[in-house]
Amino acid sequence: MIKHLTKMSDLSKSDILAILDLADSMKAAQKAGNPKEPLKGKTLAMIFQKASTRTRVSFETGMYQLGGQALFLSASDLQMGRGEPIEDTARVLGRYVDGIMIRTFAQSDVEELAKWSGIPVINGLTDYDHPCQILADLMTIREHKGKLAGLKLCYVGDGNNVCNSLVVGCLTVGMKVSVAVPKGHEPHADVLEFAKAYGDAFELVTSPHDAAKGADVLVTDVWASMGQEAETVARMKVFANYQINAELLAVANPGAIVLHCLPAHRGEEITADVFEAHANVIFDEAENRLHAQKAVMAILME
Ligand code: CP
Ligand code: NVA
Repeated sequence: MIKHLTKMSDLSKSDILAILDLADSMKAAQKAGNPKEPLKGKTLAMIFQKASTRTRVSFETGMYQLGGQALFLSASDLQMGRGEPIEDTARVLGRYVDGIMIRTFAQSDVEELAKWSGIPVINGLTDYDHPCQILADLMTIREHKGKLAGLKLCYVGDGNNVCNSLVVGCLTVGMKVSVAVPKGHEPHADVLEFAKAYGDAFELVTSPHDAAKGADVLVTDVWASMGQEAETVARMKVFANYQINAELLAVANPGAIVLHCLPAHRGEEITADVFEAHANVIFDEAENRLHAQKAVMAILME
């Protein structure tokens, strides 16, 4: 098993399925009022360099439910925010706590923490990746569709962190993935390279309509990610046609589900009517962040 979760491609198919199986059983135990506390006495440090609702609350609550505690550390309040090197922060935290979750900009910061801390490091979102989100997404797809392998997932929008991780995660578990992005907003080159090994199971197009044809799962994300606020106006124009709406759902498979990592911008990447019609699954997806991350923490930190 893995030592860290720095990016989606750290996980093999059997790693992902083991995490999802444990997450399912933890969810059931929690609902039955019978949870286990495998991380009693342990502490997770959570470093945030960007805003968060779901990631912060689900990690903090999850750690408490596992019997441990979590520390919320805003990067601007840490000495890191005043220039203390990551390798020193990592070695200090490694002496106090049992695991680190970090949400930051550069993927290399996560890799550095993992290299120097001597304890498990979990990526809570970088500009490149959002593995915890995709574990929750796969858990939700399996809950609602009963399987993963063979399903077709369509992603429409920006080839960002969520898109990168979705492509890697879905291909790894045997799904087909069709991505529609405007020219110049493709997924990361490493992800396109990764996808090459999966042949026809991966498709990159510019037409959302083409990507959505026969899809079992439709996914989108914001047009401007955290850190891209200055580009918002320009992006509104570029992405105007990259929306999940009723016309797009009409070409997907009957019974297709819609996922959104949230926060959502109604009228931009998704229409309000589609969002509300699929709110049930979208909020299951948000809930599953908690269960999937508890499984990751238990596996890495027990
Ligand atoms: N989806 C997600 O990561 O949400 P937050 O930004 O609220 O953590
Ligand atoms: N792509 C978005 C995801 C937010 C959870 C961002 O990075 O802001």
